[in-house]
Amino acid sequence: ASFCVQKLLVSSGFHIHLLLANIATTTARHDRSQTSTMETELREKFSNAGQDHLFKYWDQLSESQQSAFLKQLSKLGDPEAFIRDVSNAIAYSSSVAESKEYTQLPQSSYTSTISSSKETLNEWETKGIELIKDGKVGIILMAGGQGTRLGSSLPKGCYDVGLPSHKSLFQIQVERIKKLEQLAGVEKSLTLYVMTSQPTRQPTEEFFQKHEYFGWDKEQIIFFNQGTLPAVDLEGQKLLLGQDKCSLAESPDGNGGLYKALFDNGILDSFKEKGIEHIHMYCIDNILVKVGDPTFMGFSVLNGFDVATKVVRKNDPAEKVGLIVLDKKANKPCVIEYSEISQKLSEAKDETDPSLLKLRAANIVNHYYNVDFLQRMVPQWIKSRKNLPYHIAKKKIACTDINTGEPIKPTENNGIKMEQFIFDVFPSVDLEKFGCLEVAREDEFSPLKNAPGSVSDSPEMCRANCLKRSTRWIIENGGLLESADALVEVSPLTSYFGEGLSGVADQNFAADTVL
Ligand code: UTP
Repeated sequence: ASFCVQKLLVSSGFHIHLLLANIATTTARHDRSQTSTMETELREKFSNAGQDHLFKYWDQLSESQQSAFLKQLSKLGDPEAFIRDVSNAIAYSSSVAESKEYTQLPQSSYTSTISSSKETLNEWETKGIELIKDGKVGIILMAGGQGTRLGSSLPKGCYDVGLPSHKSLFQIQVERIKKLEQLAGVEKSLTLYVMTSQPTRQPTEEFFQKHEYFGWDKEQIIFFNQGTLPAVDLEGQKLLLGQDKCSLAESPDGNGGLYKALFDNGILDSFKEKGIEHIHMYCIDNILVKVGDPTFMGFSVLNGFDVATKVVRKNDPAEKVGLIVLDKKANKPCVIEYSEISQKLSEAKDETDPSLLKLRAANIVNHYYNVDFLQRMVPQWIKSRKNLPYHIAKKKIACTDINTGEPIKPTENNGIKMEQFIFDVFPSVDLEKFGCLEVAREDEFSPLKNAPGSVSDSPEMCRANCLKRSTRWIIENGGLLESADALVEVSPLTSYFGEGLSGVADQNFAADTVL
């Protein structure tokens, strides 16, 4: 009997094997036929859009490369519509700015921490701390940029600007969040959502892992990727083929890609699941950033704003910064680039205080968002190119030379990258729901943009500005410096923003002390 059972098992095993082999063959055949239908459809679509060249090296590709390429092409949706959007972006970039009338935001939308009373600032801060305590605050860090001007091989957040502690930007910022939780008297209240991009994701996650999440709980950090957009030639007509001949040359879709990324990666749902009602969003490159700033959160929430933005004061009319202004005709907030304002308007003085420029709210890409508002608006924003138009940036783009099939690493601009801008959605916010908070530049803004030795926004300047601020805190608290030019580093774990330093009174500090 046992022999019979064994025989039966062996023979049914054999049958199952055969059956599985048949299923595998059928599935492979099915996959191939699906791939070839997809290939036919996509070839036709891309050919109609003038993009035949993308298939020139098709026959040299392996089956898996072909199928990955088809997947990428199908994700683009309608190539004709994309090329049309590119043409519009090019036309927009070279058009004479529309004769819009820009002016200051009204006083109801514009407040300065510089002229606010201590009581008001305390009230905002207390509210912000309460929100953190109640788990209602989430933080988004935008770290998807490629940092091309800085020229470091690692993502910008890994950069050491040369502080005495040699902490990276990521470490400084995570430590500020840890300290904030401590100030609110809670643990595991804040979540940091880190937006990376295809090029920055892996090195960023590896950096966090290597440094054991800087002593914070890894469960409180969520990485998500922004999308990419294909690059085109300088005429905006042909999509560029990647160096591997089996992909489109693509780049991150700009900081405005944040909204689509929040939607696509289920981050909006995550806010709801965690009970997060208010968001602070900031950029990785600002070494002075008050991450999760309770004062800013309190200001925004107590005023009932849907969106708010921090700005610093523009003093020099020639400074090349974007400005937060009011589009008078539409009665909506918006950002204008420095190239869009006339010299006369950029030099105009404030009517009530002629020591100030009329348009002085310099954009530092540091925002508050109400989560309900994001839930309502993001699906609309990402559907319409009107809310998030493409902008063009002429760049050196690695790709394949279609004529020779050789990879090109250009030394001159050879193509256009497409980007979306995060502030393009501002005009869809009602003016009374939009807030602008001016903060002191020396306290809150010093971005790392350019390579060492550059005349502006260099690592040396970030280092100096960070140390100058902490040294000011030491002096304000009665600390003494061993030499007049000594600079002291205060760890974010010691003080979030200058508080808790009364113990330094009458103590002497040597240059490069880390407190
Ligand atoms: P920048 O526009 O200064 O770009 O980014 P960048 O990548 O840091 O530097 P360059 O221009 O290549 O030299 C401002 C902020 O927006 C983020 C950046 O990571 C930075 O925090 N950003 C920018 C993204 O997250 N995604 C993007 O596609 C672009």
